[in-house]
Amino acid sequence: MRRFNLKRNILVTVISFFVWSSEHGTCNAREGKHWGRSKATPQSISNKNGRNPRGSKNLVHQASRMMGELYTAQDETTKTPLQNGGSSVTFNVLDYGAKGDGSADDTKAFEAAWADACKVEASTMLVPTGSVFLVKPISFAGPNCDPNIIFQLDGKIIAPTSSAAWGSGLLHWLNFSELKGITVRGKGVIDGQGSVWWNDSPLDKPEEVAATSARDSNYSSSQNLISSEVSQKMPSTKPTALRFYGSTDVTVTGITIQNSPQAHLKFDDCTLVRVFDFSVSSPGNSPNTDGIHLQNSQDVVIHSSNLACGDDCISIQAGCSGIYIHDINCGPGHGISIGSLGKDSTKACVSNITVRDTTIHSAISGVRIKTWQGGSGAVQGVMFSNIQVSEVETPIMIDQYYCDGSKCQNKTSAVGVSGISYQNIKGTYTSKAVHFACSDSLPCKGVILNTIELKPQQEDKPLSEPFCWKTYGELQTSTTPPIDCLLVGKASNPYSC
Ligand SMILES: *[C@@H]1O[C@H](CO)[C@@H](O)[C@H](O)[C@H]1NC(C)=O
Ligand SMILES: *[C@@H]1O[C@H](CO)[C@@H](O)[C@H](O)[C@H]1NC(C)=O
Ligand SMILES: *[C@@H]1O[C@H](CO)[C@@H](O)[C@H](O)[C@H]1NC(C)=O
Ligand SMILES: *[C@@H]1O[C@H](CO)[C@@H](O)[C@H](O)[C@H]1NC(C)=O
Repeated sequence: MRRFNLKRNILVTVISFFVWSSEHGTCNAREGKHWGRSKATPQSISNKNGRNPRGSKNLVHQASRMMGELYTAQDETTKTPLQNGGSSVTFNVLDYGAKGDGSADDTKAFEAAWADACKVEASTMLVPTGSVFLVKPISFAGPNCDPNIIFQLDGKIIAPTSSAAWGSGLLHWLNFSELKGITVRGKGVIDGQGSVWWNDSPLDKPEEVAATSARDSNYSSSQNLISSEVSQKMPSTKPTALRFYGSTDVTVTGITIQNSPQAHLKFDDCTLVRVFDFSVSSPGNSPNTDGIHLQNSQDVVIHSSNLACGDDCISIQAGCSGIYIHDINCGPGHGISIGSLGKDSTKACVSNITVRDTTIHSAISGVRIKTWQGGSGAVQGVMFSNIQVSEVETPIMIDQYYCDGSKCQNKTSAVGVSGISYQNIKGTYTSKAVHFACSDSLPCKGVILNTIELKPQQEDKPLSEPFCWKTYGELQTSTTPPIDCLLVGKASNPYSC
């Protein structure tokens, strides 16, 4: 990448001209399509919303790169130009031909912007505010990229709703892999437009049902309609919206992911992950839409986030350790879950998990550990602390007989569960306060309960008593409701992997 030694004033003048010419050139007619777009004030220049008039694309592109020299990584959110030049280079998808009109396919522009950003250490790929970008399944693959790339998402990215875009089914939509230092941040939105994938499941809202059937009847009566809204049946494999694989030093912050066909945000084989000031927003009845899904990942901190979805707000799977979750607002959803683990006789190791200072509401469970019969390995060293629940079916749960609807045979082996601590869990439940169903052959060990105050949502409704099976542990305080089913005894050695 060439370096430019021009003074800031000259640059701003040059860029002002280009922005001015794009504001007053061919792009004027499009202005109405872009929300929140302002005139060519210094702020809008620094937001780089200017479009490229045809013919001067390269110059604007170059100017845009020069502008990139003026920002530091830390200042990207506010886009404050530096006084004395910085080291970050910005690649704006609009400079690569993205239309941002919500219907043109912007995938190629994103791929091209990424290809350039990938070659520059600490560069920024900018998805600017004021536009909606339709992007097909795309890989941001990094084995050969320079480190510390920032994906600045201020606009909106939407997924295609036509089945053709997904072939016979793909597991990932926005697929970041094998990167060292990757940050996705901004005030933007990733919208998976998942409702077209959820059709098989019952819809709650009458207007959604009406819209769906109207669309379906339009489709069957008029096969000639060419519209991405009117699609063939979607493939049975549903994609995760934003997925990171094999990466280290990963940050996701500021953005919202909504209506994913399946999990919203997934980390697989990642280390040093930070997620904060992040939102997930999907209906409580959307199937399998985990908020954040962690697999084979270590040293993960997730905090200060709002997660509303149709499945686990956070799901912690095999191979995870050193996971610290705090200040999460979860619900609706299925709560915060470790597992399910050990399916199809697999080995699963999960350790050193802390969940604290979190609220869980309108959920089927609060904090849960679930394992299949027949697995091996261990879950050990888990602390759930300061959890406020409301309208949660079963706030505290260990289920070592997890079975996904189908018939499951009894097996003797199990993923061992030990060293699980519950402190200060308070609020209301709608079915059962505590449910511990541990393995016959490998009982749960070291289950500690301290300051549990759980009350039925409706005082007058008779609900199930706390349940324990093969659960060794200790009450450190009296509890509400009283839990008298724990087995007392030396918790011998914890299970290990
Ligand atoms: C996502 O990237 C990984 C790693 O490059 C690859 O194995 C996987 O197939 C990709 N997923 C899709 C849907 O392309
Ligand atoms: C269905 O077609 C009718 C007539 O063309 C139109 O008025 C209506 O808006 C369409 N409905 C949907 C959901 O596209
Ligand atoms: C547990 O994980 C935290 C990070 O989440 C880490 O700081 C700590 O060192 C880990 N402890 C052990 C015993 O592995
Ligand atoms: C599994 O064990 C339970 C409890 O002992 C028993 O009720 C059930 O019938 C068994 N199921 C099978 C498939 O053997």
